[in-house]
Amino acid sequence: MNHPLNSIRNILPHHVWNRVDAFLESAEIFTEMKNPRVLRSMAPSAVRGLLFKSGKQSDTTDMAASHSAHFNWAYPHDHPEMHELYERAKLGQWNGSSLPWHTSVDPLDPNVPIAPIDLIDPVAAKALGIKLEGKDQQRMIHSMASWMLSQFLHGEQGALLAAAQVTESVQWYDGKLYGATQVMDEGRHVEVFHRYLTEKLDRLYHVNDNLFVIIDALMTDSRWDLKFLGMQIMVEGLALGAFGFLYQSTREPLLKEMLRYVIQDEARHVHYGVLALREHINYNLPKNEREEREDWAYEVALLMRNRFMAYEVYEEWYDGTSVTRDQWRQLIMNSPGMQRFRQVMFTRLVPNIRDIGLLSERIRPHYEQAGLGAYFAGQSAPELSGEQMLADLDREAA
Ligand SMILES: [Fe+2]
Ligand SMILES: [Fe+2]
Repeated sequence: MNHPLNSIRNILPHHVWNRVDAFLESAEIFTEMKNPRVLRSMAPSAVRGLLFKSGKQSDTTDMAASHSAHFNWAYPHDHPEMHELYERAKLGQWNGSSLPWHTSVDPLDPNVPIAPIDLIDPVAAKALGIKLEGKDQQRMIHSMASWMLSQFLHGEQGALLAAAQVTESVQWYDGKLYGATQVMDEGRHVEVFHRYLTEKLDRLYHVNDNLFVIIDALMTDSRWDLKFLGMQIMVEGLALGAFGFLYQSTREPLLKEMLRYVIQDEARHVHYGVLALREHINYNLPKNEREEREDWAYEVALLMRNRFMAYEVYEEWYDGTSVTRDQWRQLIMNSPGMQRFRQVMFTRLVPNIRDIGLLSERIRPHYEQAGLGAYFAGQSAPELSGEQMLADLDREAA
């Protein structure tokens, strides 16, 4: 990190420097947030996730919910587009048990890579004294793919619980019926990702601290639209891009099949989020509230873009060795596969942010600065079905 304390890094033992580096990186979040309202709403989650590392303290976490459960005893048909999504979701149900689980998966087989081999650049790794040749490289890809899929799984658990909250708090009756299908979808996603990780990859990583912060922030916020924005647009949008990346690059047939089904569900979920927020943000919110959501979304995007650094893999492989945490971060930042992963994550997200009215002239330069301007004109969820998205991914990969 570029910090005055860098001057003392050479005189500190590696494990001490690693702790300083982790602390500085966490503290940076609080100084980055320029909107005081965003800072106020996100700071408690950031303290819990980054400083106390609540997601890693035990196998369970309790988050205090504070939203209202909204009932409507008149059962109106109040949102035709949500009703149509509900009908599509019922037809689109599938059974996770019916996937070809008999497929034999060897994560160390170089002929059937789970994930792209260039996720970690072997040349840059060698400069750090990390030898990634032959089986070592396969083992590293096994770790990285398992880490990525573990974060997908934890995101899915967040989506399962957030979908339940959103179903309670949403004002539209058609939205509640649709929400019920999403709860089922997310339950199925948790089931299949967990089964793949434990049965086929034999590996499960802890939740990443930054992902924990985002989940904690939206679960504990009492505002229904923040929950939608955090889960349906940000986490699901990023996941959709990330799933697409792995769908396109994996050569392992069971994983590919699983992702094909999951992507079609997720496309509906993001579509629902856009429907719920588009009118609310564009027409119902006063300017200062809209700007708060705009800054909140941007901060969450940055959290995922700049801080999704696979430290959990670092801790497993290199903690206590001569490779420091910041060297690992540079390796992840500069490895071509991870660079593509970070970029692709945003292809689906940014157009949806635009569609719901959170990409004003005020915030655009910030996205451009973060290298995300290329996605301003992309297709948003209502313009792109899951089937079309898969067809595009297949065509690009061909
Ligand atoms: Fe999901
Ligand atoms: Fe979802």
